Amino acid sequence: MSRNRTVLVTGASRGIGAAIAIGMAERGYDVALNDIERQKTDLEDVAAKIAATGQRAEIFYCDVSDKASIEVMAQAVLTAFDELDAVVNNAGILIAGEVDGLPEQVWDKVMDVNAKGSFMVIQAFLPAMKRRKYGRIVNIASIGGKHGAPEQAHYSASKAAVMGFSRVLAQEVGPQGITVNCICPGIILTEMGRVNLEDPEIRNAWQAKTAMARIGTPEDVVGPVAFLASDDAAFVTGQTLNVDGGIVFS
Ligand SMILES: NC(=O)c1ccc[n+]([C@@H]2O[C@H](COP(=O)([O-])OP(=O)(O)OC[C@H]3O[C@@H](n4cnc5c(N)ncnc54)[C@H](O)[C@@H]3O)[C@@H](O)[C@H]2O)c1
Repeated sequence: MSRNRTVLVTGASRGIGAAIAIGMAERGYDVALNDIERQKTDLEDVAAKIAATGQRAEIFYCDVSDKASIEVMAQAVLTAFDELDAVVNNAGILIAGEVDGLPEQVWDKVMDVNAKGSFMVIQAFLPAMKRRKYGRIVNIASIGGKHGAPEQAHYSASKAAVMGFSRVLAQEVGPQGITVNCICPGIILTEMGRVNLEDPEIRNAWQAKTAMARIGTPEDVVGPVAFLASDDAAFVTGQTLNVDGGIVFS
């Protein structure tokens, strides 16, 4: 392939998404960076870090729960990069709350970003991937979607939805050379991860539950994503890989 490989990473301004975007650039990818406009400063910082690796970084603002904005973004990405090899659906939110009393709007918001957002981003890029008969889709789910913790039922449901959706999509698009896989990060130190880690007692309990006896870093997630986006994983599809240091064993 004479051109560089290309990847879109959603929610790339910080945390796991920023690590994936920079890590993919370090592996030779040109990167389309997405986040909401409010994250402009952080996203520009990620773009600068990618430029420092010698790879190309382009910014595309859009809220992944807004279909019209996604369609505009998809057009712009395909115009800028011509071909998109991989999409990493990483954008996500966690709003804690027990089921008893959880406002319907919170359920909808979490579902709209985490589950429907991934679906709508994929839908926007599928026609181009099908035309090329090539594509790599990596969805960032969560061990929370398998296991879950109190106050995260709606988050767990949204991530379980991503896994179910991915397994079926893999069957639909396999014949067109497109793979669809999920990564389930464990407890990772990010802004979102703080919910699980702020209290030292909870942090120690998670550490004790983890085979590797430590909390994960955003960089821990990069290698597995890069593998699933690569041609080394050409015959891997519809799978879910836990990247949790050994918390969930199925
Ligand atoms: N941190 C963890 O412990 C953990 C564990 C399992 C799964 N995950 C998943 O990993 C992904 C990244 O999480 P993180 O820990 O880096 O969280 P984070 O809050 O640090 O980063 C999330 C990013 O997504 C962006 N984002 C949020 N809503 C968006 C929207 N509507 N449109 C576009 N971008 C949006 C945010 O601006 C931010 O840049 C999420 O899908 C999350 O559910 C995280």
